[in-house]
Amino acid sequence: MEYTFAQYQESAQALRDRLGAFRPRCLLILGSGLGSLGNEVESPIAVPYEDVPHMKRSTAPDHAGRFVFGRLAGQDVAVMQGRLHTYEGWSFEDVSYPVRVLRLLGAETLVVTNAAGTVNTAFSAGDIMLITDHIKLFGVSPLCGPNLEEFGPRFPDMSHVYTPRLQDTAREAAEELSIPLRQGVYMYFPGPQYETPAEVRAARALGADAVGMSTVPEAIVAAHCGMDVLGFTLCTNMGAGVLDQPLSSDEVLAAAATAGPRFSALVKACLARL
Ligand code: 6GU
Repeated sequence: MEYTFAQYQESAQALRDRLGAFRPRCLLILGSGLGSLGNEVESPIAVPYEDVPHMKRSTAPDHAGRFVFGRLAGQDVAVMQGRLHTYEGWSFEDVSYPVRVLRLLGAETLVVTNAAGTVNTAFSAGDIMLITDHIKLFGVSPLCGPNLEEFGPRFPDMSHVYTPRLQDTAREAAEELSIPLRQGVYMYFPGPQYETPAEVRAARALGADAVGMSTVPEAIVAAHCGMDVLGFTLCTNMGAGVLDQPLSSDEVLAAAATAGPRFSALVKACLARL
């Protein structure tokens, strides 16, 4: 489904009606198992996705499906506790819809997080990876259809989707907190099935370090509308075939829970430096 500019405006107005004078500077999207950071927001105003006109619901396990607006690490933020995924049946436009709505509310920065598998054999389960770039070869673009010039150009440059200055900020914050930080390329796969070992080898050959089912549509749309983007992947497990053991979403959530406090500390340290 293609949305009109008027629909984005209607959604933004519905949120303004709930927020009083509050305006978020930053949109923080929390991935699988990482949603607890949303509970640390001060003076929270929670808005379930179903209260936002035109916005789809989150049906993924462990995704609460609501915005939490308020202050986190000294920043005025909108936190998405639970994101929308294409494997739920939503289109790329659907899953990136909230990014544009928050842009209309004045957000300048997208901080995007996810749990993913790693295909880089030098990485380990539990590693945090700063996203330096992405690969998306599957499916159409969230920018397909009539271009909404209000948001950005027809053919947007993707040279620096993940803002270099914010990457530096993340490296500094990680060093200060003594949190080991990997960096690499995130490759989008549609899911919901995990990749086969052959797909994992293909991803590695193409230059990916991690594979996951999210993040890229939102990052493309954010870059299109001129937002700065900072992305982190929690490598919850090795991609299929690296170790001879089956993957399960329980394992993913358990790994996310273990690394959660470290991950949250890093994200908050970055927010504080925005
Ligand atoms: Cl191995 N693949 C994908 N696509 N998503 C994941 C994952 C793997 N592990 C956690 N999330």
